[in-house]
Amino acid sequence: MITFNNSLITGIKEVDEQHMELVERINHLFTFVDGKVTAQELEDTFTFLVQYVAVHFETEDRIMQEINYPDMDKHIEQHELLINKAVNLREQLDTHGYELHSIIELRGFLLKWIVDHIKGSDLAFAEHYHKVKG
Ligand SMILES: [Fe+2]
Repeated sequence: MITFNNSLITGIKEVDEQHMELVERINHLFTFVDGKVTAQELEDTFTFLVQYVAVHFETEDRIMQEINYPDMDKHIEQHELLINKAVNLREQLDTHGYELHSIIELRGFLLKWIVDHIKGSDLAFAEHYHKVKG
């Protein structure tokens, strides 16, 4: 599970709210592993995550454009890599089924990605945002 603590706060309300929602949903994948869960529920959660991530990236792209963020291209590239990976994982799950080891791999991947991405990249653009917006 991820605890959403201060080290993950960007100070951009819209972005933080979306990050919290994403973290909550990823955490949800953890409860699946211990409890009884249907393949449908897993699929629904994963579908939600993929869609919500796309919405979230649009939000960040718009804000980066607004503030003319110099590292925007690099940041967008990271988003695209995640989307590609998610599409691949989705295909894998559709082919091999929603088995426990796939879910464990998925949640581990998402957990690491979101924490690394927020700390490594989102906080950097947030810093620029606060400089520009004052
Ligand atoms: Fe981002």
